[in-house]
Amino acid sequence: MSFTPQILSPTELNIKKVANCLKNGEVVAIPTETVYGLAADALNAKAVEKIFLAKGRPQDNPLIVHINTVEMLNTIVSTIPKTALQLATCFWPGPLTIVLPRSANISNIVSGGLNTVGVRMPAHPIARAIITATNKPLAAPSANLSGSPSPTTAMHVLQDMNTRIPYIVDGGNCTVGVESTVLSLIDIPTILRPGFITAEEIASVLQTDVKIADAVIAPLKEDESAASPGMKYKHYSPKANIILLKGDFPSFKQFIENKIAQTKENEMIWALCFEEDAPNLTTPYITYGRQEDSATQANALFSALRTLDEKGAKTVYARMPKKDGIGLAVYNRILRAAAFQVKEL
Ligand code: TXA
Ligand code: MG
Repeated sequence: MSFTPQILSPTELNIKKVANCLKNGEVVAIPTETVYGLAADALNAKAVEKIFLAKGRPQDNPLIVHINTVEMLNTIVSTIPKTALQLATCFWPGPLTIVLPRSANISNIVSGGLNTVGVRMPAHPIARAIITATNKPLAAPSANLSGSPSPTTAMHVLQDMNTRIPYIVDGGNCTVGVESTVLSLIDIPTILRPGFITAEEIASVLQTDVKIADAVIAPLKEDESAASPGMKYKHYSPKANIILLKGDFPSFKQFIENKIAQTKENEMIWALCFEEDAPNLTTPYITYGRQEDSATQANALFSALRTLDEKGAKTVYARMPKKDGIGLAVYNRILRAAAFQVKEL
């Protein structure tokens, strides 16, 4: 079916309307504190299939299930280890997804054929109101077309989902800006995807070491299988060719100026830099947060990638983010956007 998506303000009436739509097996885009999600009733296999169709998502890439109460958790996982409850107490509602053994209620379609399920309780009041009104766990991947940057505004969702879904609930700008931390508790606690909740924070709650999956900062080798299937796909890719430059600002500025001097005018070279760099650049730029503040970078990155495409940038040279704390989440995303191209200055 083809739709022209309607952008809905989050009134009580509209939340009811959207909940009915979800109960009837439709797919709706909803805001969360991390990024916008493409939601469907996680217990309705036909509805979940529509998510894969709308996104063009590979079938073996599992979806995160969003809940609103710990009772809901009981219905979708087969066991709840003590560690999961400790983490839920500290970080839920919030940007932490926990991978646990799935119950029979969760179909192969949601889990991408795995015997586990990723669960999170979002903090966004509108996401929570929609789960409450639907009274179902909601499967929701990020609401972008598979491979493109995750949406952090309703307009971003509209760009990708035009004609594909009936409603987009507008919750304004997402405050976190990158997707949740994905932590597997199937074996030793392992971060499959870094996010706003850091390895250090998780380790301090669990009082144990937390592993970071190799695929977080390295490309998978050809015959390697990813613990988190999402890691093996092309991700966050704008149309522009992005190259990360490792070095200080003066070398960055010099490098870009040289490149522009050597290149024809229509090559459209842009800088993706920090806010404090901007006044000293004479070349076109888009900023993504402040150099020493990874949370501001997380908040701005996906939007910056989309803006670069709108500007028609062909080649983009990007400043390197920090890699510690929330910085690891930023580095993980920008490295994929750059298809792992890093140049040392
Ligand atoms: O913040 C978020 O997590 C957002 C919002 C909407 O909640 N959702 C999101 O979903 O980012 P998605 O589908 O774009 O990314 C989910 C990631 C994928 O890399 C997927 O492979 C991984 O989580 N994942 C999901 N379930 C898993 C499982 N059972 N085992 C391993 N990895 C899993
Ligand atoms: Mg995604």
